[in-house]
Amino acid sequence: MKTGIATTTMASLPQTIILLLLLLGAFAQARDSFACDSKDAKTSSLPFCKVSMPIPNRVTDLLGRLTMQEKVRLLVNNAAAVPRLGIKGYEWWSEALHGVSNVGPGTKFGGAFPGATSFPQVITTAASFNATLWEAIGRVVSDEARAMYNGGAAGLTYWSPNVNIFRDPRWGRGQETPGEDPVLAGTYAASYVTGLQGNNGDRLKVAACCKHFTAYDLDNWNGVDRFHFNAKVSKQDIEDTFDVPFKMCVQDGNVASVMCSYNQVNGVPTCADPNLLKRTIRGQWKLNGYIVSDCDSVGVFYNTQHYTSTPEEAAADAIKAGLDLDCGPFLAQYTKNAVIRGLLKEADVNSALANTLTVQMRLGMFDGEPSAQPFGNLGPKDVCTPAHQELALEAARQGIVLLNNRGPSLPLSHLRHRTVAVIGPNSNATVTMIGNYAGVACAYTSPLQGIGNYAKTIHQMGCADVACNGDKLFSGAINAARQADATVLVMGLDQSIEAEFRDRTGLLLPGRQQELISKVAMASKGPTILVLMSGGPIDVSFAKNDPRIGAILWAGYPGQAGGAAIADVLYGTTNPEGKLPMTWYPQEYVSNLPMTDMAMRSSPNRNYPGRTYKFYKGPVVYPFGHGLSYTNFVHTIASAPKVVTVPLDGHRHSGNATISGKAIKVNHVRCNKLSVGLQVDVKNMGSKDGTHTMLVFSKPPAGHWAPQKQLVAFAKVHVPARSQRRVGINIHVCKFLSVVDRSGVRRIPTGVHNLHIGGVKHSLSLQPATLGVIKS
Ligand SMILES: *[C@@H]1O[C@H](CO)[C@@H](O)[C@H](O)[C@H]1NC(C)=O
Ligand SMILES: *[C@@H]1O[C@H](CO)[C@@H](O)[C@H](O)[C@H]1NC(C)=O
Ligand SMILES: *[C@@H]1O[C@H](CO)[C@@H](O)[C@H](O)[C@H]1NC(C)=O
Repeated sequence: MKTGIATTTMASLPQTIILLLLLLGAFAQARDSFACDSKDAKTSSLPFCKVSMPIPNRVTDLLGRLTMQEKVRLLVNNAAAVPRLGIKGYEWWSEALHGVSNVGPGTKFGGAFPGATSFPQVITTAASFNATLWEAIGRVVSDEARAMYNGGAAGLTYWSPNVNIFRDPRWGRGQETPGEDPVLAGTYAASYVTGLQGNNGDRLKVAACCKHFTAYDLDNWNGVDRFHFNAKVSKQDIEDTFDVPFKMCVQDGNVASVMCSYNQVNGVPTCADPNLLKRTIRGQWKLNGYIVSDCDSVGVFYNTQHYTSTPEEAAADAIKAGLDLDCGPFLAQYTKNAVIRGLLKEADVNSALANTLTVQMRLGMFDGEPSAQPFGNLGPKDVCTPAHQELALEAARQGIVLLNNRGPSLPLSHLRHRTVAVIGPNSNATVTMIGNYAGVACAYTSPLQGIGNYAKTIHQMGCADVACNGDKLFSGAINAARQADATVLVMGLDQSIEAEFRDRTGLLLPGRQQELISKVAMASKGPTILVLMSGGPIDVSFAKNDPRIGAILWAGYPGQAGGAAIADVLYGTTNPEGKLPMTWYPQEYVSNLPMTDMAMRSSPNRNYPGRTYKFYKGPVVYPFGHGLSYTNFVHTIASAPKVVTVPLDGHRHSGNATISGKAIKVNHVRCNKLSVGLQVDVKNMGSKDGTHTMLVFSKPPAGHWAPQKQLVAFAKVHVPARSQRRVGINIHVCKFLSVVDRSGVRRIPTGVHNLHIGGVKHSLSLQPATLGVIKS
């Protein structure tokens, strides 16, 4: 989002009006009906208000009553009221990335809603690899969102989650995403969206939005920003990587909205590309919902990218491409003239509005009083409840990743480590823990407070802030470490280093943090533990290789209760179970790698290393999926098929188009129930109960297109000490065992796929079923 728009609007209003608006927001009481208010007999008896009528008919009725001028004012985020039809204005832009957020004009904290539960930033929650948790968070967030809506403090349309692939470790918004793997990101998207939207047929609790479509993962690097960036992307990488989370979000999550991005893809602004919007999202994936622009994308492709010569052409291009709603004023300003000039038909405007109005009806906005509707009872008492805040703590516990544990140094003992030196610029972090696209938290537990619940603390900042430009505070930190039974350094990044519009320049810790850590470790009387807060990966090779540093934890941005969760892991009340959702590369990886190069696959002849664990073969600091526990789990495969036959669609011919290079086109396969079932026994060999996060990778038969391995399934299981549990895994063959050829066609390679689960391997042979039978 480009918050500039909201700011400009506010700045142009007189101070007194702003104050009045703020007061109104703060003391908003139960909301009036958005439309179809039963107190207004004239409008509430109109057909579009009839709850018993099918929604498409209600939409058609309403569209038939609107004038052109009224229609164009509904094409933008601050949709105007239509008083003669009893319809109020509506602000479409609210956000709920990991809790109801105060980004976007649709949401206002204050008064009866001073805060909302602030869950860990998404990159941390992703590290839990727990789809049940993701959906549970979505349910809580939508409870709080509905409660705030009922109180007039929020909207019902939330432009979350961000499911772009965390392609380059420097990306400032990588923290908002579920990481670098398309299947992980897609599963996250579908689960979180289901939690937000509810599971009530066509009805929506709130409307979620998967963004930013597509190949958008650069904010501002080396003079190139997202408003000017033309992402050159191969068909192969689009199908294989960038589209996957969006497709899963639409098809598995039934999301009510997709947002197109600012950037161009192969020379066309995404919000003006009918191939992306009309053909792919709506045509192939069958989006049941609306497509919205990123904030002022249409203005950006006209004014900044000069993609069309007149603003009317820009408006016409966007709507004809399949855009339904503009976050920004552009479509309200230019659409009417675009129709008058014959660049666009009124029918095109109608189809755009049909998509947004349908979502509003599915949300119940045309059903009369909010209080009489489902969720109408939710109010301030349902926000920041103890159960909601407990889930925020639980999410942080599940997401924290134990990277190293020398000795082992962790867990600490509350008997032996009674005094702890708590050091570092993030040691007393509060807002840093909630990352970006956050709201106002209910309350915070900082690391200092969390550790304080287990031990006596000696607190030293060590550096004034994460930039850590001086060493003035070093000696205090060193002295604290000399005295204490254990030393915990809470270091890392914050929004001053990685944020929207702020990509990182390198992967090392900022300023003199490294020096502080090494000096403190040298002086520590007891074990030294390094805790990192960050969204992106950090090259901490120096600490990994320093024998004086006992353990390293990555907490991501762990949310409002992050400090309590960190302390629970440090003292072993929580056995860590998180796994890295992205590769931790060494600094050298980025030294010669343009962020603008979108290619996923490596290319040795141009010295290009490739991206993510699927394609990059060089050295890493920690690999994707890395994460230790205080116990030790061993897998054995209890049952798994050795051969799976792939049934071909009988109408297809097995000519070279279907089976080329020994890979069958997925389109020619009867995919429906084609899955591979595995039973895996997980044994906890240690003396501590623990939860095992099991990642299943497949190594497809070698070929030009295949990644070296790909995540095909994941599961979590709690296993008490010295016990064993059996886990069932189902792998959808077409979705997850397929690879994508150079033309962007998804194919299932025949032959041996090697499944890897931890150290265990299983060979699975995929064979086309009816080869001998079909005519060629
Ligand atoms: C996944 O998260 C949910 C919600 O917090 C929790 O109840 C469940 O135990 C977790 N699953 C495992 C296997 O830990
Ligand atoms: C920790 O942060 C809180 C909240 O920002 C502040 O009130 C408190 O004084 C800080 N504690 C220390 C020891 O700096
Ligand atoms: C299929 O490929 C084989 C081997 O490359 C070739 O000999 C044959 O002519 C091709 N058949 C068709 C129908 O294209």
